[in-house]
Amino acid sequence: MAREIYYTGVDIGTSKVCSIVARVGSEGELKILGTGLVASQGMQKGRIENIGEVQTAVKASLEEAQRYIGRGVITGVYAGVSGVHISCQNTKEVLDNPGDMDDVTSNRIDQLMQASFPPLDAGREVLHIIPIGYDVDGLSGVRNPVGLHAKQVEVEAHVIMGDAVALKNTVRAVQGAKVSVHSLVLQSLASAEATLTGDEREMGAVLVDIGGGTTDLTIYRQGNPWYSAVIPVGGDQLTRDLSVAMRTPWYTAEEMKVKWGNAMPELVRADEEVVVPSYQGQPRRVVKRRDISEPLQARMIELLKLVLLKVRQSGLRQFPTGGLVITGGCAEMAGIKELALKTLGGPVRIAYPSGIAGLPSQLRKPIFSTAVGLLLWGIKHQGEKRPYRIGEKTSWSSLFQWGKASAGEGQARKVSAK
Ligand SMILES: Nc1ncnc2c1ncn2[C@@H]1O[C@H](COP(=O)(O)OP(=O)(O)OP(=O)(O)O)[C@@H](O)[C@H]1O
Ligand SMILES: [Mg+2]
Repeated sequence: MAREIYYTGVDIGTSKVCSIVARVGSEGELKILGTGLVASQGMQKGRIENIGEVQTAVKASLEEAQRYIGRGVITGVYAGVSGVHISCQNTKEVLDNPGDMDDVTSNRIDQLMQASFPPLDAGREVLHIIPIGYDVDGLSGVRNPVGLHAKQVEVEAHVIMGDAVALKNTVRAVQGAKVSVHSLVLQSLASAEATLTGDEREMGAVLVDIGGGTTDLTIYRQGNPWYSAVIPVGGDQLTRDLSVAMRTPWYTAEEMKVKWGNAMPELVRADEEVVVPSYQGQPRRVVKRRDISEPLQARMIELLKLVLLKVRQSGLRQFPTGGLVITGGCAEMAGIKELALKTLGGPVRIAYPSGIAGLPSQLRKPIFSTAVGLLLWGIKHQGEKRPYRIGEKTSWSSLFQWGKASAGEGQARKVSAK
């Protein structure tokens, strides 16, 4: 009997660490074997600040995921990365072969991909090189040039880079649990994998994963990722603002935000009051729900404006027609869709992992978009070499991360490996 292949995604977030182990069933459906969700520690705005604490959290999360399947099942994982050190660049390279009228082969495309590698500043590493379009003998918009008869091929690639130390620390955080890393994956790409529909990718859409420490953003255009960035603001900032405004400790403000916060205070009845629990010997207090929501709205508007700024910085003159797709823990906040509609215009969609055959309902929540997406990424790209070095020589072969747009909405995607 063929050996079962297991896939593991580990989302090391600022608020939580989530590990999911799965295999692919005979019908191409996802079979979830274990999940491990623990509170994060040692992370600041998506970046590792205390490696020992992060290792402890990752280990606890992986152990929880292995509880029902036994140790030894998880050998390698797909781990998410984020942080403001992430940058991107779209590069164009030409493979010129005058006189050679051969069909385009994947080897020649690999040569192109290698050339797409932009000169790196010291201390930077390439995380992803994703081909986003080919121009074959002047014919643009070719999706896959392999097999075509051509004299010249030009490739445009979306290259994502990060700080070498930050990337290496993520690998070390996982290795601390005696598990290796198959591949590091940008968190917003993973979240997009789990949430964006094929139509949204084609029409163009802005995916934002608003977590605790960061807002991870990837813009899709004509089916492919086109711009990626990380904004160092997330739900923790909202909690901090509320804690100052209400003069409460952080944990009380966090509870108030989740229970009563509304990104659109005007949607809350003007006379609606709630009781703030006592803390540190302070008596219980009655406050207006609108007063809780106002500081949250102010920060959320600022965050949405930062998203808009990133869209402008990407070079787009107008918002993509697929609109804004919001996921991550903050997507659960009441009123966020209405506020985004008011601030940016439509369309706006709150997204969670969906359209994935076999995915249990417990994982269809915005906080699981990255972890589920890491699994899907692993299944789709298994066996590919990674473009970055982590204690090894850079390898350039088989870097295809191309031409695999998701199925449309409502259609359960099969997740079969290549
Ligand atoms: N119902 C809710 N209303 C408001 N905020 C919420 C709600 N549920 C969760 N959140 C917020 O979502 C955030 C956590 O989201 P998530 O789990 O996606 O973060 P993370 O992935 O750990 O962090 P990051 O990706 O930023 O490193 C917290 O700030 C939390 O308060
Ligand atoms: Mg996250």
